[in-house]
Amino acid sequence: MRPTRRRALAGGLALAAAPAIAQPAAFPPLTQAAARSGRLFGCAVEPHRLDADPAFAALVARHCGVLVPENAMKWNALRPAPETFDFGAADRLAAQAKAMGARIHGHCLLWHEALPAWLPNDPSRREAERLLRDHIARVVSRYRGRVASWDVVNEAVERNDRRPDGLRISPWLRALGPDYLAMAFETAHAADPAARLTLSDYGLEYDDVSWMVEKRGTMLDLLRRLKRDGRPIHAVGLQAHLLGERPAAFGQPLATFLRQVADLGLEIYVTELDVKDQALEGDPARRDAVVADTYRRFLDVVLREPAVRMINTWGLSDRYSATADFFPRADGSKGRPMPFDADLKPKLAAHALLTVFSD
Ligand code: G3I
Repeated sequence: MRPTRRRALAGGLALAAAPAIAQPAAFPPLTQAAARSGRLFGCAVEPHRLDADPAFAALVARHCGVLVPENAMKWNALRPAPETFDFGAADRLAAQAKAMGARIHGHCLLWHEALPAWLPNDPSRREAERLLRDHIARVVSRYRGRVASWDVVNEAVERNDRRPDGLRISPWLRALGPDYLAMAFETAHAADPAARLTLSDYGLEYDDVSWMVEKRGTMLDLLRRLKRDGRPIHAVGLQAHLLGERPAAFGQPLATFLRQVADLGLEIYVTELDVKDQALEGDPARRDAVVADTYRRFLDVVLREPAVRMINTWGLSDRYSATADFFPRADGSKGRPMPFDADLKPKLAAHALLTVFSD
């Protein structure tokens, strides 16, 4: 008996894509849309998720020209013990990026979080400098020529720590003073002179949030000092973890800040873009519309600045979103901060990205 179409398709699907089903028009690759505006587009990923979920890996490969290691290149992933490096996950991500023909934006060489338990809370100046220089030299030289850019120092500014220079009182600052920034950038540059070196931070985006207005000023002062001292810094990273429930106030103050950064001869990367919907009321359709509008309004301003060269989202699908995981919704539904939904289908946010890249 000739198998019915359904059985045939079922059988076929088990073996190969069933040619008989008319595939919905595939969503245009975001990386190609971004390239038409002269930018790179990518996302943060975990290598084990790409290996475990071929459909997700295919979505990333189609839409992303940059991969960012969400956790694989952090100290706690690379350094299980004081004298031991474990590059397994980081090497896997590098291989995946190569297979996809994607660049790597390395994340992150120095941060006050994701530090291994064995790291002393308050190392001596000598010990802290040895740890910093050894780590950065070892990691950057291993990926020399394969990681095109690095988040060298992440989240260096914290005005609530009340320092006159606005720097965060991290273990690195306590042990080494503000010089830790120069040490980090100089060590990374010596290990790979071609890599673009970035200072990345959050809370630089909204026009009308007073602490963000102040933080932009502090960041500019820090950048001016680093540039004045001839430090090898090439870009500023705006993490851009945006809030769906906050009115999308992105206008001249943000545009002026971007221009002031560019006037220092620096590029600008949006390094961790997402839009939390955890506090948004309403059904998924309404939340998706607000999230998409927030992506659009932010990028409408950002993409007017020619010095903006790369846009990376912090994940690509709601199927895997640390933001959705870390900020659960009160109604128990899963967050929807990403451009693609948990079934890997494009949401209004994906259409918003396509539109702003094409404007
Ligand atoms: O892999 C272990 C797993 O084996 C273990 O069972 C589980 C429970 O303890 O933890 C897992 O590790 C977690 C890891 O994410 C992978 O899921 C860590 O505990 C958890 O702390 C880690 O969180 C990451 C966080 O940075 C801290 O490193 C998030 O995934 C990551 O999205 C987040 O990303 C940061 C950027 O690096 C910097 N900017 C802010 C951004 C969002 O917080």
